[in-house]
Amino acid sequence: MRPLPADRGTCPFDPPAGMADEPLSRVRLANGDDVWLVARHDLVRQVLGDTRFSSEIDGGFRDVPLHAVRPEPGMFIQMDPPEHTRLRRLLAGRFTVQRMHRLRPRIEQIVAERLDALERAPRPADLVAEFALPIPSLVICELLGVPYAERAEFQRAGAHLMSLTGSLEELEQSLMSLGGYLTELIARKRAEPGDGLLDDLLDSGLSDEELIGIAVLLLIAGHETTGNMLALGTLLLLQHPAQLALVRQSPETAKTAVDELLRYLSIVDVGMYRRASTDLELDGQVIREDEFVTCSLAAANRDPALLERPDELDVTRPKAPHVAFGFGPHQCIGQNLARLEMEIAYPALFRRLPGLRLAVPLEKVPFKNDMAIYGVHRLEVEW
Ligand code: HEM
Repeated sequence: MRPLPADRGTCPFDPPAGMADEPLSRVRLANGDDVWLVARHDLVRQVLGDTRFSSEIDGGFRDVPLHAVRPEPGMFIQMDPPEHTRLRRLLAGRFTVQRMHRLRPRIEQIVAERLDALERAPRPADLVAEFALPIPSLVICELLGVPYAERAEFQRAGAHLMSLTGSLEELEQSLMSLGGYLTELIARKRAEPGDGLLDDLLDSGLSDEELIGIAVLLLIAGHETTGNMLALGTLLLLQHPAQLALVRQSPETAKTAVDELLRYLSIVDVGMYRRASTDLELDGQVIREDEFVTCSLAAANRDPALLERPDELDVTRPKAPHVAFGFGPHQCIGQNLARLEMEIAYPALFRRLPGLRLAVPLEKVPFKNDMAIYGVHRLEVEW
């Protein structure tokens, strides 16, 4: 049996070699478990749109950190309807395009402040530490009502949750510590409510455990992913100067560029798993109850049936129905926020620092091949 493709040796921006070789195949994970790999756009949508492919993994699946630990109550990314629907409904209205639009001035201000900090930093500067990670962290902290000064707790847990090489003990430890921190934060809020999303949820009938689970999910999902997109997207555009110039020049193109970058980079790729809750048929193949399925979002987003010239980066192309934010009932609840942050941050960066360039050869950039969600650990830049 072939291993789950993971080698991005030839091009760090392309899906791992061999990912799209077969639309549906059995592959072996690093520690010996066999799973189904789905790698065609229509099939990926079929799996993600069908809740019989359950998101309830319930811990014990050692290959993916998120699925190795028991989910906390409230972590609805790992729940099926009706529980999933109940919790998602409480939040969905908070992340609409209109709601996010109101955040624009504040996000623009945060981006400008991070650019000031970047300009003051010694050179070469690390774009991840100075710009890509702080922006979504600051935004999600403000939105939830979590003091940014206390971010170390959730940034550490986030890094452990995404790591493919860390130990389970480390992960459990940092999640426990984050849970402890949030218990204390919720108690503080009950005594003196503020104006964040978590404060608004205090009286929504959720238990404290559920509230903590929701906070863990939003804090981690809300900063790590967007941070990776900001850094990796910048790096990709630096390799394509003509495309970068278009993003810098036109606000309209900066907008279309965001979805093209999301599609092209597909940073979540095979990060999420499903479990067949019963015997199911997919593309004429029987998937047995309790077998695990993973979808390659990267292969789906480069499927020639989805769009023409799928391997070409073209920031001017109309938005394709890509699956970089997933599909179906679990499709990313924070996508409007993520899009807005990117739409503001990329052009602001390229306008403020027109001479922005990589300070090390591309081969020296530490890509996150050791993490469940792709990106770069550091990005040394000059200007
Ligand atoms: C570029 C940035 C982002 C990417 C690529 C991304 C990607 C994804 C994907 C692929 C899923 C589907 C998971 C599944 O089907 O199991 C998802 C779900 C989710 N995302 Fe995002 N995400 C991003 C940003 C955000 C932000 C900023 C937030 C927070 C506001 C967020 C919160 C969530 C939540 C809560 C879920 C679970 C939804 C559910 O289960 O119903 N994400 N995301």
